Amino acid sequence: EQAGKGEYDHFMLKEIHEQPTALSQALEGRIDTQNARIALADFEPGTFADVDSVQFVACGTSYHAALYGSLALKQAGIESTALLANEYSVSAPPVDDDTLVVAVTQSGETADTLNALRQAEAEGAMTVTVTNVVGSTAAREADEALFIRAGPEIGVAATKTFSSQAVMLTLLGQRIAADRHGEPSADLETLLPDLAAMPDAIDDLLAETDAEAIAERYHGSRSYFFIGRGLGFPVALEGALKFKEITYEHAEGFASGELKHGPLALVTPDTPVFAIFTGQEDEKTLKNAEEAQTRGAPVIAVCPEGHRAVDVADAHLEIPETDADLAGLLANVQLQLVSYYAADLLDRPIDKPRNLAKSVTVE
Ligand code: AGP
Repeated sequence: EQAGKGEYDHFMLKEIHEQPTALSQALEGRIDTQNARIALADFEPGTFADVDSVQFVACGTSYHAALYGSLALKQAGIESTALLANEYSVSAPPVDDDTLVVAVTQSGETADTLNALRQAEAEGAMTVTVTNVVGSTAAREADEALFIRAGPEIGVAATKTFSSQAVMLTLLGQRIAADRHGEPSADLETLLPDLAAMPDAIDDLLAETDAEAIAERYHGSRSYFFIGRGLGFPVALEGALKFKEITYEHAEGFASGELKHGPLALVTPDTPVFAIFTGQEDEKTLKNAEEAQTRGAPVIAVCPEGHRAVDVADAHLEIPETDADLAGLLANVQLQLVSYYAADLLDRPIDKPRNLAKSVTVE
C-alpha cells in the first residue's frame, strides 16, 4: 500500500496533488481553444438540441459537483436543477422525453444514484452519466456516458474526482447550451483558455499554499463554517463535507446570505468561518463574513491576491486569478488541503474514515 502512495503519507494527499494531471486528462481532445468552441466529440452533433430541461442526480461529493454543474447550466440559459439521488423517488420534478437526466457518480455503482437513473429512464428521459469508471453499472445503463478520466481514487474522501466532475459538467453544460441555442455561448471565448489553464493554476496553488499553517492555527475549534454564494455555495458544502468526513469535527456549509437567517446564532470566537470568493457578488459575501467577524469569529478568506477580502479577513488562502465559473474549484483545492492537514494533526485515519465506504452500494 505504501508503494502506491509514492512520496505521500496518504492517498488523499497524493490524489489532491494529482489534480493537474487529472484535469489535463479530462480536457484532452475535448476543447478547442483556438476556435473558441467545445469539441466534446463524445457526443454526436446536435445530441442535446431538443433538451428543454436538465435534472442532475447524485449523492455526497458528486451531488456538490452536480449542484455546481446545474448552476453553471442555468447561467448558460438552460433550465436545470440538481437533486439528491436518494430523494429522487419522492421529489423528482416531472420528466418527459425532452428532459435530460444526468447521473453524476464517481464509482458508477452508488445504489441511490442508480435507482434515480433507472426511474428517469422508466419515465422516458434521455440519460447521461458522468463517471470515472468505464464498464461501471451507470456507464452501461445510461444512454450516454461521459468519462472524467481522473484515474483511480483510493482515498474514501473524493478529491480529484470532484474537480474533474465539476470541470466536465461545466463543459457538458456549455455543449448542451450550444446544441440547444444553435451556437456556442458568448462567454466561451474567455472560459476556454481559463479551463485549459486550470492544471497550471492548480500546480501554482499547490506550490504556494498556506493551508497547513491555517490548519495549525485553527484546529481544535468548536465548529467550522464554510460560506459561499453562487458557484461558491456548492464549494462551501463540499468544504464542510470534506472537513467533517476526515477530521470528525463539526463543520457546516451555508449559502453566504443564509448565515443571518439562523446559523449566525452558532457563531462565536471559537467557530472559524471560511469565506469563498468567486467573483460573483463578492461584496455581499464579504458583508456576510464581516457579520460573523463582528461576533468574534475568525474569518479566513479564500480569494485571489489583492482582493478586498484580504484586508478584512483574519487570514487568507490565495487562489490564482481565473474565470468566475472556475474560481470555486481552485478555492476547493485549498479547502481540501485544510481538511487534510487538520485531520493529520488530529491523527485521524485519513484514507479510511470510520463508518464510511468508498462506494455505497446499498440504499
Ligand atoms: C465524498 O468524499 C464521499 N466519499 C461520498 O460523499 C461520495 O461522493 C458519494 O458516496 C457518492 O459516490 P459516487 O460518486 O461514487 O456515486
